[in-house]
Amino acid sequence: MHPLRNRQFRLAQRPTGALVPETWAYVENPMPEPGEEQFLAQVLYISLDPAMRGWLNDAKSYVPPVQLGEVMRAIAVGKVLDSKHPKFVAGDLVVGLFGVQAYALSDGKGVTKVEAGLVPLPTYLSTLGMPGLTAYFGLLDVGKPREGDTVVVSAAAGAVGAVVGQIAKIKGCRVVGLAGGPEKCRYVVDELGFDACIDYKHDDVKKKLRETCPKGVDVYFDNVGGEILDFVLTQITRGARIVICGAISQYNTPNPVGPKNYLSLLVNRASMAGMIVFDYTPRYGEALMQMGAWMAEGKLKSKGDVVKGLETFPDTINKLFKGENFGKLVIEV
Ligand SMILES: NC(=O)c1ccc[n+]([C@@H]2O[C@H](COP(=O)([O-])OP(=O)(O)OC[C@H]3O[C@@H](n4cnc5c(N)ncnc54)[C@H](OP(=O)(O)O)[C@@H]3O)[C@@H](O)[C@H]2O)c1
Repeated sequence: MHPLRNRQFRLAQRPTGALVPETWAYVENPMPEPGEEQFLAQVLYISLDPAMRGWLNDAKSYVPPVQLGEVMRAIAVGKVLDSKHPKFVAGDLVVGLFGVQAYALSDGKGVTKVEAGLVPLPTYLSTLGMPGLTAYFGLLDVGKPREGDTVVVSAAAGAVGAVVGQIAKIKGCRVVGLAGGPEKCRYVVDELGFDACIDYKHDDVKKKLRETCPKGVDVYFDNVGGEILDFVLTQITRGARIVICGAISQYNTPNPVGPKNYLSLLVNRASMAGMIVFDYTPRYGEALMQMGAWMAEGKLKSKGDVVKGLETFPDTINKLFKGENFGKLVIEV
């Protein structure tokens, strides 16, 4: 028998509100062995994403819910240890839906190979991964910013928001972020180069929006929903585009609330559209080439928040909903 054992977090109970320790079951299993056309990967870094909260609800969505007893779904970077798959060999570094566990079997579907040494490995879960791709396509394809536009983005210090704002700056826009606390706001302006950042936990958001967006908001990239979306709706320009990327303020509430000020869309002939990054899979290559180039030129910065230890998972995932992560949140297994 293999001396090492697998360690996993499985869904034990569907949460109705916030994630609690009872949501999860920690289990240890014998090490899995790859069958034909499979490989075994050691999971190195696990991406913690707000979307994981949605995957736990037994409701129709863009992917089926995680089932009770199933290993929690998560994107991760791994290293192939053993392979009976024709396209993967031991030593390959791979990104895929490997789940919240120490070792994963894979049939290679949806798995991409990445290179060591170009960027730190967690970057493949942030700017050069799912959140970066979300920012790229959400902003450019749905938000359609034009030079000189004012672009506002919420959760601006986070994985998606930081990339949105930096791309909008590259495209010649005025960029205003919203983030929780002075430290995050300072980072967004001083390090990422946004024009302004509103500390929504301490500032009068409506007043600050008027001050920082004197010509109104042409593009709003919404990561949080709730009250902030309503405030921004009062400041949009004619023909404005609102990208509904996420609504983290509503994820832990059983009855999410929508915007009260939606008639502003009518008055301003504006549009509000949802987007899901996975719809852009055929175009990932184009985005990654461009973002890789911007990173190499120093125009696109990436900040990671790495927490050590698989066992921290039940606490670490909650950092997202408390605003305790600063940059892309990952667990180093
Ligand atoms: N549509 C898609 O395909 C897609 C793909 C990826 C992500 N998303 C969405 O994009 C959003 C950002 O994801 P991310 O991975 O980049 O996470 P993140 O921004 O790195 O982390 C989440 C951040 O949300 C903020 N937040 C938490 N609760 C909040 C609340 N009640 N009100 C306002 N802000 C709150 C916190 O920042 P502060 O400290 O600033 O409050 C927290 O750090 C999420 O809504 C996610 O679901 C969508």
